Amino acid sequence: MSQSSTTSRISQVTRHLSSVAGSAVQAATGTTVDHKLCMIPGPIEFHEDVLAAMATPATSHVDPLFIPVFGESIELLRKVLITQSAQPFVVSGSGTLGWDMMVNVIEKGDNALVCNTGYFGDRFAECLQVYGANVTHLRAAIGDRPTLEQIEQALRANKYKMITITHVDTSTGVLSDIKAIAELTRRVSPDTLVVVDGVCSVGSEEIRFDEWDLDVVITGSQKGLGVPPGLSIVIASQRALNVFQTRQSPIASYFSSWQRWLPVMQAYEARKPSYFATPAVQLIYALNASLRHITAEPIEVRFQKHAKASQDFKQFITDLGLKQLAVSPKGAANGMTAVYYPRGVTGPELVQSMAKKGVQIAGGLHEQIASQYFRVGHMGISITEPGRKHIDKVAEALKASLREQGYIAK
Ligand SMILES: Cc1ncc(COP(=O)(O)O)c(C=O)c1O
Repeated sequence: MSQSSTTSRISQVTRHLSSVAGSAVQAATGTTVDHKLCMIPGPIEFHEDVLAAMATPATSHVDPLFIPVFGESIELLRKVLITQSAQPFVVSGSGTLGWDMMVNVIEKGDNALVCNTGYFGDRFAECLQVYGANVTHLRAAIGDRPTLEQIEQALRANKYKMITITHVDTSTGVLSDIKAIAELTRRVSPDTLVVVDGVCSVGSEEIRFDEWDLDVVITGSQKGLGVPPGLSIVIASQRALNVFQTRQSPIASYFSSWQRWLPVMQAYEARKPSYFATPAVQLIYALNASLRHITAEPIEVRFQKHAKASQDFKQFITDLGLKQLAVSPKGAANGMTAVYYPRGVTGPELVQSMAKKGVQIAGGLHEQIASQYFRVGHMGISITEPGRKHIDKVAEALKASLREQGYIAK
């Protein structure tokens, strides 16, 4: 079979697969896939071109056809993060591997200040502690975020190697003001690395890496970037690379070491073959397909579309008489919404009832209140391609499911 007929067969299959929401479909493997519209805060729905990329034939990771695709993906990531000089790392793994990659800049005994807005702040801190960091948490009430005054006080009280900020904590839907925190950190403690967990924000929230003078942004493939899970993506500033290059102690990790990955990234970008550990070829094809879509329009337009869709969805939630976790609109994510169940409505029933209607949403995750709320993702093609009517489907299913449980909207 020629390459083009293979491609066209694959796109037919994937188009068919992805066009059917809420019904059982026959996948290319012959297994039955029950596809519900996936409206959790990641993984999100994938574009047909992304699905087609995942179904491409076996390809060597040093094939002359693959190398430029990897190289271009690295360049396109810079466009998405709005940076000229930062270094992207694209490695097989999930978002969590990005936390582990902080082993490259953290040394035993270093202080880390964690701006904690939920579950993922706790987990990131746990990871840093594995590598010997002394962690200080700055916490806020659930749904809120530490204030700039608290952060300034903490930065003045102690010398920190890094400050970490979960841009959007997926457990609460709280959005942190990374621009203001980065500005403050540069003013008060210029050498402290500003490390952003952008797993639930890259692709859906405004990030201006160079202008805001960030040092590290960590993400994964499966949320705002619209690619299946399996890629860990980390973008590091020259300042962060310098800290890595001048560190005193050896890096206590084999797979996560930038010593091994930096030459590989540089080689692919220079369109040269390289090898440390086999890259996930099909995922990188998928990443490339998605990044091409994302960068086809100005990134500002993408931010605006997510912000507008989020405002509309949040207004719909308020009009239903429901309350969000995020205590202020400014501190609420644009790519997801976390909502308390109203009185009389219970979590498992609501999520199951939505699933029966072909829409997958997520239950709560914050350990203290997990059974009290649900979460909806609104990122990627569900927002940029409104013709797909994904949000309308969520809204209809939610209204009907609440009604079934006896909840009458105010
Ligand atoms: C904010 C945030 N950080 C980190 C992670 C961990 O990423 P992964 O599950 O891809 O390892 C997640 C996962 O949802 C997340 O939402």
